[in-house]
Amino acid sequence: MNPPTWDELYRTGESFWESPHPICQKLIDFAATNQKGNRTVLDLGCGNGRHLSLLASKWQHVTGLDNSRQGLLQARQVIQQDRDANVCLVLGDMVHLPFSNSSFDSLLSTHVIYHNPMALIRQAIAEIFRVLRPGGVAALTFQSVRSWRYGYGVPLEPNTFIPDAGLDAGVPHHYFDAVELMIELRNFTLWSLELEESRNTEGHRSSHWQVILEKP
Ligand SMILES: C[S@@+](CC[C@H](N)C(=O)[O-])C[C@H]1O[C@@H](n2cnc3c(N)ncnc32)[C@H](O)[C@@H]1O
Repeated sequence: MNPPTWDELYRTGESFWESPHPICQKLIDFAATNQKGNRTVLDLGCGNGRHLSLLASKWQHVTGLDNSRQGLLQARQVIQQDRDANVCLVLGDMVHLPFSNSSFDSLLSTHVIYHNPMALIRQAIAEIFRVLRPGGVAALTFQSVRSWRYGYGVPLEPNTFIPDAGLDAGVPHHYFDAVELMIELRNFTLWSLELEESRNTEGHRSSHWQVILEKP
């Protein structure tokens, strides 16, 4: 089975979100309350850009990085409608970020990191640590083992499965429990760890971790 590229998924396009994920507002509130700095922010895996305008209303310099050219083309259209937004788009891979150490005050990454095997997830977490400045804040989401799709598809490694049907067939999904997440994020200060859960029209439970972290 040839996995679909994210470019293909963006071209077919039916299922992508438009309004910002609620954790984006949580990052804004946390950064404001804690005066953690509001100059630079990275949207890691920005996709088609649903967070960029909101981020640009609070941070002076917004960078959106994704490894899908098609996603970035769509993101560019979104930000072209917002002429005040100071946004830079970068084609790149989250496991080798093209930024120097301590480049960002804040970082957002929604529904990105867990679409990979554990070795790459660990590299991405190390890269997030590296590019955040000390005192910088990150807001991240991860799949939880309580998701109805846990165990669905071909097992790749413990808690990682590759769905063999559906729109995202071929894209790895790693599912975390709280302990594993805390172990992987142990170099950060963990300010908030919440489960976001909802049911779709068929009654299936979607379950994701929402995490707010600070680099000490
Ligand atoms: C489910 S989409 C989420 C997009 C966006 N964060 C959002 O919430 O709307 C996952 C995104 O992660 C990007 N992605 C996956 N692996 C990546 C990697 N190794 N480096 C950079 N981007 C990656 C994909 O191209 C895709 O745009």
